[in-house]
Amino acid sequence: MDLKAVGQIAKTSFSSFRRLVNSGVSLFLYQPTGSEPEEYHKWYYNTFVWNKTKWLGVDTWKSVSDMWNYQEILSELKPSLIIEFGSNRGGSALFFAHVMQRLGHPFKVLSVDINHSILDPAAVNDPDILFVESSSSAPEIAEQIQRLKEEFPGKIFAILDSNHERDHVLAEMKLLRPLLASGDYLVVEDSCVNGHPVLPGWGPGPYEAIEAYEHEFPSDYAHDEGREQKFGFTFAPYGFLIRN
Ligand SMILES: C[S@@+](CC[C@H](N)C(=O)[O-])C[C@H]1O[C@@H](n2cnc3c(N)ncnc32)[C@H](O)[C@@H]1O
Repeated sequence: MDLKAVGQIAKTSFSSFRRLVNSGVSLFLYQPTGSEPEEYHKWYYNTFVWNKTKWLGVDTWKSVSDMWNYQEILSELKPSLIIEFGSNRGGSALFFAHVMQRLGHPFKVLSVDINHSILDPAAVNDPDILFVESSSSAPEIAEQIQRLKEEFPGKIFAILDSNHERDHVLAEMKLLRPLLASGDYLVVEDSCVNGHPVLPGWGPGPYEAIEAYEHEFPSDYAHDEGREQKFGFTFAPYGFLIRN
């Protein structure tokens, strides 16, 4: 190797080393003020990013970091039944079905909504999703879940994303009470409304439903705080619950 080549290697190594030190220092010096996640949450919610979010072309009214979190939960939990209250266009049901299809064992997604007239054909045509048009708090839904539990025994992942008023969410949580078993997962979505931290004037919503439920049944659920906090903000604050 001639001297010129040795010099070139030394120069490159030094510049890589300098880059590493400089960027390492910048990571070390970074001091979050603590308000970043809440500000980002407000920006994300109040500028309707969630309302323009799609899964493979189908409207999916979620925060994308929550979707990633759900993907991680599903791949670990490997549920055989997913219960979704609130379908809208069916984008979230389709997302759950696609993740589950890759996991490769038998499952069903039950997605319930009072109005299925706007479902996207891509969701309707997915053989692993069962769409049921009904109020999610109707007793027939509990019977339907019981039947699916027998057909698809195993863990359950349930997600509440329908009517975001406290009394309705509380009714949904009570409907699921005898149907969920230890280790099953429940996400109560849009607990961010009513000032947690968005839409401060909403009135009692999902967050208050969780509080009311836990007042009545304090030992039912453990809060999965690690997942709740993982991506800085979530549309389901206080709403990542694991059945005891
Ligand atoms: C926020 S959207 C669901 C969004 C969907 N999960 C997604 O991520 O794209 C709420 C849905 O709840 C439905 N809904 C409202 N009241 C309901 C009820 N009592 N039972 C079931 N669904 C209801 C609405 O029709 C609406 O489609």
